[in-house]
Amino acid sequence: MNADQLADMEDIQGLILRGYNFRYIRYIIFSIADAQGARDFCADLLPGSGKPMCITNAEPWPGGVKPDYCLNIGLTYSGMLQLIGQPDCDTVAGDSPELFSIFQQGATYPNNTAAIGDTGASAPKNWWKNSGGWLLKNDPTPNGSELHLQLTLFTHNPESREAYYHTLLSMIPAAGGGQAVVPAFYMDSDPIAVGEDLDYIHFGYKDSLSQPRIGNTLWNKKEVRLLTGVSTVDDRPVVPLYHFAIATSAPSYNAHKLLENGTFAAFRLLYQDVGAFNSFIASDKTTSPELVAAKMCGRWFDGTPLVVSPGGEDKSLKDFDFTNFNYLTHTPNQLGPPGPDDLGARCPYAAHIRRANPRDDSGVTGNNPPNEVHRVLRRASPYGPPYKSDEPKTPEVKRGLVGLFIGANLTDQFQFIMSQWISNGGFRYPDKSPNSSGIDPLFGPQAGDPDPDNHNFAYNTGNGKYKVIPGLERFIRTDGSLYLFLPGIAGLKSLSEGTIPG
Ligand code: HEM
Repeated sequence: MNADQLADMEDIQGLILRGYNFRYIRYIIFSIADAQGARDFCADLLPGSGKPMCITNAEPWPGGVKPDYCLNIGLTYSGMLQLIGQPDCDTVAGDSPELFSIFQQGATYPNNTAAIGDTGASAPKNWWKNSGGWLLKNDPTPNGSELHLQLTLFTHNPESREAYYHTLLSMIPAAGGGQAVVPAFYMDSDPIAVGEDLDYIHFGYKDSLSQPRIGNTLWNKKEVRLLTGVSTVDDRPVVPLYHFAIATSAPSYNAHKLLENGTFAAFRLLYQDVGAFNSFIASDKTTSPELVAAKMCGRWFDGTPLVVSPGGEDKSLKDFDFTNFNYLTHTPNQLGPPGPDDLGARCPYAAHIRRANPRDDSGVTGNNPPNEVHRVLRRASPYGPPYKSDEPKTPEVKRGLVGLFIGANLTDQFQFIMSQWISNGGFRYPDKSPNSSGIDPLFGPQAGDPDPDNHNFAYNTGNGKYKVIPGLERFIRTDGSLYLFLPGIAGLKSLSEGTIPG
């Protein structure tokens, strides 16, 4: 694909190329009871099938008006096995070695869970039921083998979410005296408002600010951008499309035709312990909780980046001002203090956004070439009610972040970021902090983590001094995870026919 060739918007699922910004979402997981019925269900969901609901592709919305709903689909490896059978799965696996094996192993595979901290309370044996939302009579099996299709329904209000959910259920074919696919789990996501702004998440931060800027998409074309009314210039480097929508012609991996224009994703259900987080940020009596929280994230609560405004929130920032920044060499339109933040004096190396996307910081282990390979698209949103400081500690109020972390190559993208940058020490060389910047403080150490460095949060206060705050705990617990394939529309058609392309 050359630089000017546009992505195949008709074939790529919509949520891969854009965040829809719908406020009421339902994340649904189905179990396949009858393979042919499941294929028929997938066929009915194809765009153009004329059925009541269909999967949303990436084509621009007519007149720029959002539809009433959007719907996207992914399947687990055991779901794919049911649809096309072992020999065809083996063919796809054989032709797609770099992309397929981690998907085939799945989120519960011990090596995958251990590397990203899905152990202890976050281990698969505790998943799904812990968060509520489990619908099947029997308990979930620890390897998640009964979880096959994951659908995400995006709507404008709770009433239409309910109505479209029931429409979706009504489309399920009957089989053997029951349903061909059975709802196994669902979780709703409603917005958390701070004033008029609906983009907040449970620890109190504004979210949805930074995403990779994907090449070859319509919205990257200058003429289209000028029409969208954004008042600042986008400095973000373009990440090639094949890192998010699979191309059989991609230079860095091999892919079977079934995968074309599809992608992979980690579906994550992440409980957030807001009480413990709030206690930690208030634990150092000489530092304000807002400052500690900003240093942990790399952004002030309102989203102002620390590298742009280290002294506090900056209400004059707009549009791309929130994402036009680097850590070492200023981007053309970067605001704020001149010079590199090489020692993390503005944004600590440990901070979540620096770890999850180190941008141009080539001192970071594995960030080569910077800004390109280890990138992830986030399509996640909050679930559960907002935290109240006087709420009882037991029973635990179920709340957190749920959704998809998307990338064509789960090993190099989601799994790499989680295992190497978020959950692991040795993030950057050189690093003068007393605990080598430990691990990502928004996540915190697992109970019993033997490494003392991971139980502190340290940040550079300038002048070569470091503030060390002890007592870092685990604030995020994994309550469910699936590794998914999100097919292109042609791929979904093949799956619904029980075949793979020649
Ligand atoms: C409950 C769990 C999580 C919380 C509370 C959380 C919180 C945040 C916040 C507040 C931001 C700043 C908003 C923005 O830049 O758009 C952010 C950004 C980000 N997060 Fe997370 N996050 C969580 C899980 C994850 C996971 C599992 C990953 C995946 C690997 C991840 C990757 C990222 C990335 C890539 C960015 C953007 C960084 C940038 O481009 O500067 N996050 N997160």
